[in-house]
Amino acid sequence: MLIWVVFSSLLVMVCEGGQLLKSQFFFNFIQAVDPENILGIGWNGSLPHPCMLQRKGVKCNSQAEAIVDIRLENLNLSGIIDADSLCKLPFLRVVSLAKNLIRGSIPESISLCTSLTYLNLSSNLLNGSVPGALTGMKNLRSLDISHNHLLGKIPDFDKHLYKFSLKSNEFLVNETRSLVTMSQGPSPKPETSEARHEKGIRIWASYAPVVICIGFFLLFAFFVNKKAVRSAKEKEILKSLGASPLKSPRTKTTDEVKPEKACSELVFFVGEHARFRLEDLLESAADLQSQSLCSSLYKVTLKNDAVYAVKRVRKLQGGFEEFGQTMRRIGNLRHPNILPLVCYNSSKEEKLLIYNYQRNGSLQTLLENYIEGKREFPWRHRLSIACGIARGLDFIHQKTDHWESIPHGGIKLSNILLNENEEPLISEYGYSKFLDPKTASLYSSNGYTAPERGLSEEGDVFSFGVILLELLTGKTVEKSALDLPKWVKSMVREEWTGEVFDKEVNRAAKQWAFPMLNISLKCVAHFPENRPSVAEVLEKIEEVVNAQGDIDASPDSSIESNYQDGCLLHTVIPETWDTPGSNS
Ligand SMILES: *[C@@H]1O[C@H](CO)[C@@H](O)[C@H](O)[C@H]1NC(C)=O
Ligand SMILES: *[C@@H]1O[C@H](CO)[C@@H](O)[C@H](O)[C@H]1NC(C)=O
Ligand SMILES: *[C@@H]1O[C@H](CO)[C@@H](O)[C@H](O)[C@H]1NC(C)=O
Ligand SMILES: *[C@@H]1O[C@H](CO)[C@@H](O)[C@H](O)[C@H]1NC(C)=O
Ligand SMILES: *[C@@H]1O[C@H](CO)[C@@H](O)[C@H](O)[C@H]1NC(C)=O
Repeated sequence: MLIWVVFSSLLVMVCEGGQLLKSQFFFNFIQAVDPENILGIGWNGSLPHPCMLQRKGVKCNSQAEAIVDIRLENLNLSGIIDADSLCKLPFLRVVSLAKNLIRGSIPESISLCTSLTYLNLSSNLLNGSVPGALTGMKNLRSLDISHNHLLGKIPDFDKHLYKFSLKSNEFLVNETRSLVTMSQGPSPKPETSEARHEKGIRIWASYAPVVICIGFFLLFAFFVNKKAVRSAKEKEILKSLGASPLKSPRTKTTDEVKPEKACSELVFFVGEHARFRLEDLLESAADLQSQSLCSSLYKVTLKNDAVYAVKRVRKLQGGFEEFGQTMRRIGNLRHPNILPLVCYNSSKEEKLLIYNYQRNGSLQTLLENYIEGKREFPWRHRLSIACGIARGLDFIHQKTDHWESIPHGGIKLSNILLNENEEPLISEYGYSKFLDPKTASLYSSNGYTAPERGLSEEGDVFSFGVILLELLTGKTVEKSALDLPKWVKSMVREEWTGEVFDKEVNRAAKQWAFPMLNISLKCVAHFPENRPSVAEVLEKIEEVVNAQGDIDASPDSSIESNYQDGCLLHTVIPETWDTPGSNS
């Protein structure tokens, strides 16, 4: 790997400063922003390789073929921003020039830096107005232009989208605007196929000199090109997602667009005392917890110290009405193993789902901490968690006279949260069915998806089976991309069954582990028709729980065992235990 990096950066240098790196543009930018040469670039000698400037705050990707990150903070740089040069760097994602003495205005052409996700120009001497073109930077997630001398009207940023700061620009007007205008701000124009094509040509053109460079490097060039094709493909996917129907330009009237009022409303499923306004939510401190292609999860602390988990989902399919109907149904579900929805907000562009924040984190964190030796994860706790998840899932899968069941579609360790008693809560229920199949297929490589894919109860059973296997083997699949069912099946085939269990399971529960393993393997059967229903799985787990309970019910261990409907829990159960089937 090291050789690869050294070699390929050598390659780029030999080939006249790197067509890929766009070194000349990079140095144009540096020269403009740092006229006093505080960075100490030897302009008269040969210019250094940009990727060698890491100590000065420039980062390249691991192949040293493109600059991705420029952080020149707190250096007294006193020049101007040459965005035309800067934005010629095609893979640039992060730019921070905070805490300098940079003058002039924020150039309109900064919006050409389309791959930027983070731009921090805070604490400089920038004047002029905030360019409206900033709103069109669709990859930008964080923009900080606070502590400057900017002036004038603030463009229509989507406040949900950005971690956004423009504080201490005393002259800015209209800082508080109504939410409706924000969420209906100009949506970025989907790129036309010609533009995409052109971009493709540009990428290829930039590789051409490398190919003809020196015969010796021919092999290299081949690999480099292959990579470019791959990243171009990834971009295509992202773009096609960007052009999905929900993102259609404002002028097109679709009948699902509700009157503006509906956008700014939160629909609550809790009592009056626990309610708040959408503005309260959007103005509060928000920490990004996790992010994927079309969704992000924030921890939001309101002024009254109430803490919420806010899930933002973009690019959902299906009508406004249908979404509202589904959410109202889901919001009214109450079960001790399902994380209740506090409220939701639905606009044309995106949906917000708001839950009470669970300080104990997820089952994923628990298992990871156990694997790293940071905490215990006793067998009884695992069993009670398995039982709780099965109960919640069974509840979800129940049909009533009025409704078909809505499968979950996203059962995985990180979606199983733990309440204050470390009992499992199934989260993120109800929106899988609105996911764009194109988007969903990007996720389906994760280790929880059944081979047949698609949203179904059988698929949920498969995913639950994987969780059971994780609890038994002490291995996690979400980050390792391990095909756990395949691995366990092969171990069982080779008659190494005993070896699959985690040491805690081996120690505490060998005789109960085998029946649990049997149940799990049935759940992860290849064909959906061979999998049991969740109700059957729950019954089997309860048998194990009961059998174990009989043994454990000896006088010295009786304090720990609490039963309710045959489900062992290692801690006290809250009073509000609904029996499955009671749809309140
Ligand atoms: C580069 O050389 C010119 C004269 O050729 C000199 O005036 C200038 O100061 C030099 N710049 C630096 C940064 O050394
Ligand atoms: C920036 O300038 C100020 C005042 O001239 C000086 O005190 C400070 O040390 C300088 N900082 C750097 C990083 O050069
Ligand atoms: C911004 O400041 C510069 C001096 O640094 C000045 O020349 C320019 O006119 C100012 N621009 C605006 C729009 O105030
Ligand atoms: C911008 O940079 C400053 C200085 O490093 C930092 O304090 C601030 O948090 C940054 N803003 C964002 C949004 O990250
Ligand atoms: C906001 O800007 C509009 C014009 O763009 C102006 O009419 C209005 O008075 C401004 N509001 C505030 C609070 O400055």
